[in-house]
Amino acid sequence: MFEPIGATRAELASRGRKVVRRGARQVLLIAAGDRVFALANRCPHEGYPLSEGTLGPDCVLTCDWHNWKFDLASGAALVGRDPVRTYPVVLRGDDIFVDLADPPAERLRLRALAGLDAAMADNDRTRMARETARLERAGFDAREALAHAIVAVHEHLEGGMTHAHAAAPDWLALSERSTSADLRLAALLEPLGHLAWDTLGAGRFPYPAGERDWDPAAFVAAMEAEDEAAALSFVHGALGQGMSYPDLRPALAEAALAHYADFGHSAIYVLKVGQLVERLGEPVLAPMLEALVRQLVYARREERLPGFRGYGRTLAAWSGGARPLAAEDLIGLSVAGVLKRLSASADRAPRELFDALLGAAGWNLLHFQLDYDQAAGRKIADNVSWLDFTHALTFANAVRHLCAERSDLWPAALLQLALFVGRNRPYVTADQNVDDWRIDEPAAFVQGEMARLYDHGTVEPIIACHRLKVLFALEDELAYAPAAPWVGVVCAGVNRYLNTPPKRHHGLRLARQARAFIAQEG
Ligand code: FES
Repeated sequence: MFEPIGATRAELASRGRKVVRRGARQVLLIAAGDRVFALANRCPHEGYPLSEGTLGPDCVLTCDWHNWKFDLASGAALVGRDPVRTYPVVLRGDDIFVDLADPPAERLRLRALAGLDAAMADNDRTRMARETARLERAGFDAREALAHAIVAVHEHLEGGMTHAHAAAPDWLALSERSTSADLRLAALLEPLGHLAWDTLGAGRFPYPAGERDWDPAAFVAAMEAEDEAAALSFVHGALGQGMSYPDLRPALAEAALAHYADFGHSAIYVLKVGQLVERLGEPVLAPMLEALVRQLVYARREERLPGFRGYGRTLAAWSGGARPLAAEDLIGLSVAGVLKRLSASADRAPRELFDALLGAAGWNLLHFQLDYDQAAGRKIADNVSWLDFTHALTFANAVRHLCAERSDLWPAALLQLALFVGRNRPYVTADQNVDDWRIDEPAAFVQGEMARLYDHGTVEPIIACHRLKVLFALEDELAYAPAAPWVGVVCAGVNRYLNTPPKRHHGLRLARQARAFIAQEG
């Protein structure tokens, strides 16, 4: 509805512009020739007053702070990114009337989501934050921004889902626990930024579209054959039959644990996709299943590597061992040693073996030899970082859940956990003081560390997302078994990991390893 804005054309004649206040809003009136324009006075870039800008030919206003240029008629940014809001104007004699009414909520929603798409394509976190805040201000659940982003980047996932998806349910959980709107938004923005980071500049990789009736055995066989089209056709059929994620999860878990897949990532992802679908619902079910299947199909099968070949033999011969097992029995053993020691306890309860392995993995984390994270003079095979240790914890958490509904998968899960323990042996040392890392109150420690993640200060999303996932996995395991034998060592290990700055750029190592590599080329 048009209303008098409290200004006349005669008033604009002298300076050509006037700022009128309406509540918190500042409306800039600008005369250009015989036309009058009304627009928001705050520049959409950093908020400086457009009233101080320079009016050029063709009704283009330049914000002189950073040179963004706006078409006054449409508000479009001719230079810069975001448009400025304009208001309809009518002139009645000398009086200026402006329609300040907000557009319908649905239009604001669509505008915010379109702006989010553009911001993500630019990997521009500032604009992602603003568009998500706009969506919320228009009365919508800000989590829709994340569901929208998951769909938007879906076809750009050449290798399937990434850590951005896997960490998303934990960021959402942190967001939901938040005590203020700022904290809630801060946590929600993390997976958005991570998705944009992971898909920046990526091409399009459409998913095969076939469909056939759900058949879990045939689905697992298709996954084993690395046949993405066949595997997805079963998934599409299941969706067509109205099946939900929990219906498919047992088969997905079987496919994930059929191999030591991508350093255990596949099993972690099977758990995390379920948590994400629980939180965001139907809109992300199909895209997440497709992205997960693609990741599972193309995951490395690391048990084929020379160092892990004992895994298959041990799994095939799994049974007949009755020796009690504790973490101390596994610490310091190689892959072969851990597999052998574990098979001697194959008939013990899975929980006993799980506790022992988790304790040994926690010991490794607590005793990681930092030189491997820091040094520039080692070979490529020794490019080991904290994340090579933390995945044992998140993998353990995932398989405990997956094996709760597929107990037949316990042997594979335990032996893969054993691979984590054994593979990290060369990179730990008992010769260090670890007393300072002891935690007396695990629950308070986890909550305190989670609270720090709202403002973690790291650029690469992969760093914060791993800290978060480890904390949620630890919280979950502590809730399940608060008096388990591994609690002390795992908490101390996580404390050391979270509070030891990682070295994330290895310029000199990169140069040395590149020269050594090239020197051996034919
Ligand atoms: S504040 Fe206007 S261009 Fe930066």
